[in-house]
Amino acid sequence: AQTQLAATPPMGWNSWNHFAGNVTDADVRAAADALVSSGMRDAGYIYVNIDDTWEGQRDAQGVIQTNSKFPDMKALADYVHSKGLKLGIYSSPGPKTCAGYAGSYGHEEQDAKTYAGWGIDYLKYDLCSFGKMMKDEAGDDRTKAFAMEKAAYDKMHKALVSTGRPIVFSMCQYGWNNVWEWGPEVGGNLWRTTGDINDHYSRMTEIGFSQAGLAKYAGPGHWNDPDMLEIGNGGMTEDEYRTHMTLWSILAAPLLAGNDLSKMTAETKELLMNKSVVAVDQDPLGKQGDRVWAVGPMELWSKPLSGGAKAVALFNRASTAREMTLKLSDVGASASAKLEDLWAGKVVQSTDGSYTVLVPKHGAVLLKVSE
Ligand code: GLA
Repeated sequence: AQTQLAATPPMGWNSWNHFAGNVTDADVRAAADALVSSGMRDAGYIYVNIDDTWEGQRDAQGVIQTNSKFPDMKALADYVHSKGLKLGIYSSPGPKTCAGYAGSYGHEEQDAKTYAGWGIDYLKYDLCSFGKMMKDEAGDDRTKAFAMEKAAYDKMHKALVSTGRPIVFSMCQYGWNNVWEWGPEVGGNLWRTTGDINDHYSRMTEIGFSQAGLAKYAGPGHWNDPDMLEIGNGGMTEDEYRTHMTLWSILAAPLLAGNDLSKMTAETKELLMNKSVVAVDQDPLGKQGDRVWAVGPMELWSKPLSGGAKAVALFNRASTAREMTLKLSDVGASASAKLEDLWAGKVVQSTDGSYTVLVPKHGAVLLKVSE
């Protein structure tokens, strides 16, 4: 039997958030090099994912070609594999991708074969122009539109499976039609739950905190995807990026770095590679966390971990520092439970079954609670 794909949330890097339409073969090789030299590969970041804008024209037989930014995809895959990494690519079920390049519509089997031949390990399949086809063909008939969408994802998934190569299937249709309810049926290993993230605290938190209630839909092989990381791109403070990493880890979200890996500060590396925090995301139990309570701008979230432990995050969404108190009973733990502050890397003490800590503005504290 084939090892289960995405047994824990996929980790790696994707070109879009930093490079967008400018990404080249050289950038992808540099990202692969940096994953190795920074230690990120060994921390679990193994997928190197090329997003939109690699696509060229189809040849006379309909076989998709790369454009001039990617002179030889097979050679690039060989390079990435030689570093102990995996290569991801991007397409759309529509005739055009979101950036207007050739999509897979009408060429699904052919494209799946081409990807497998190159040595691709991951496909992000982005609705884009298929949304327009749904509108044109189904109009207001939501049942018909939904059936079209499901069939399109199912078709590509079957095409990938029939290549015989294990290829992670990442569905990107922005959470429409409650994709978490049917994503696994059409082979999704992960599915975007929202529209696009950007490098601002307001958008990152709007997406992250909106994931409350989705925990039951995630598990090994099938994950909710609140979009890629912005850590290191410069638009948030260190505390805000710490909130980003904490929240994504509590959510068992895919961890796809979206920064320029060849220019990382020590701070960015520490945020992306804190072992205990990554271990929360990657916990083998594969349970997504959820909100326990919210009081004004303060929120407590908790994620079950293997061995009966819990990860507990205290978030302060206010624009001033706040003292926050975790009552161990809030997360079903006893007054004698052991507490570890994962970002600080130290054991902390509760008093009378409570732990109070000053959480910076827009910041987060992540605890591991074990009996
Ligand atoms: C959509 C997706 C993004 C990115 C772009 C590329 O907006 O949601 O993640 O892939 O398309 O064009």
